[in-house]
Amino acid sequence: MLLEVKSLDVCYQEKQVVFGALLHVQVGEFVALIGHNGAGKTTLLKAICGFLKPSNGEVIYKGKNITGLSPAVNVKEGLCFVQQEKSIFPNLSVLENLQLAAYAVEKTSGLNERLEKVYSLFPVLKDREKQLADTLSGGQQKQLAVGMAILMQPELLLLDEPTLGLSPNLVKDLGGVLEEISKMGTAILLVEQNVKMAISLAERVYVMRTGQIILEDTHAHMITRENLWDLF
Ligand SMILES: Nc1ncnc2c1ncn2[C@@H]1O[C@H](COP(=O)(O)OP(=O)(O)OP(=O)(O)O)[C@@H](O)[C@H]1O
Ligand SMILES: [Mg+2]
Repeated sequence: MLLEVKSLDVCYQEKQVVFGALLHVQVGEFVALIGHNGAGKTTLLKAICGFLKPSNGEVIYKGKNITGLSPAVNVKEGLCFVQQEKSIFPNLSVLENLQLAAYAVEKTSGLNERLEKVYSLFPVLKDREKQLADTLSGGQQKQLAVGMAILMQPELLLLDEPTLGLSPNLVKDLGGVLEEISKMGTAILLVEQNVKMAISLAERVYVMRTGQIILEDTHAHMITRENLWDLF
């Protein structure tokens, strides 16, 4: 087992927003977490990778209890989080952002091959290599953020709504890229509002409602589920 989240409670000051979250991700598995706005998906991801301290429960990663460890420590262990908001350095160029991602996890050998891989997945980044990240369009910035994650060669990639604000064509492209990342052996925990896309990609799906995980199901069951929309 790569990741095990056990009875996680997360609060902002006094207010609890995640209640007893229980989930797991196997090595190399593609898992989706879906749910309505404000359900607590982002909060849960942040608590898993160390941006928030849970008030109860445990996060076990590669057999080690990492509850409360910082994101900087976790990323070096291959646990990488692409945030819903901007997770790029606005005043650096596209190339500098990508290089920095590799340096941050001290994985600089084979950097050029990985860079070429990212450029082949996102040709627009190659075209705009020297442009400041801040001046990229919203969709291009999303692609850069995912590109940076690829350069980090994570074992587990947490993605928070990577398709938000992308055009339908880019959503399709990104779906293909995620499939490819998954085939390279990276486990993915994908948070998505785009339920159709999430269910089509993931092997297993969790549904979250008002701070609780209310359902876990396989891809095969999920695509035939008639009352899917009742869950929201
Ligand atoms: N920094 C914060 N301080 C206080 N409350 C917060 C904070 N961040 C989020 N919340 C609240 O916690 C709840 C869960 O928010 P969260 O961002 O985790 O939801 P989400 O499922 O990611 O929603 P969305 O799909 O809109 O991104 C919401 O009610 C939100 O208002
Ligand atoms: Mg969110």
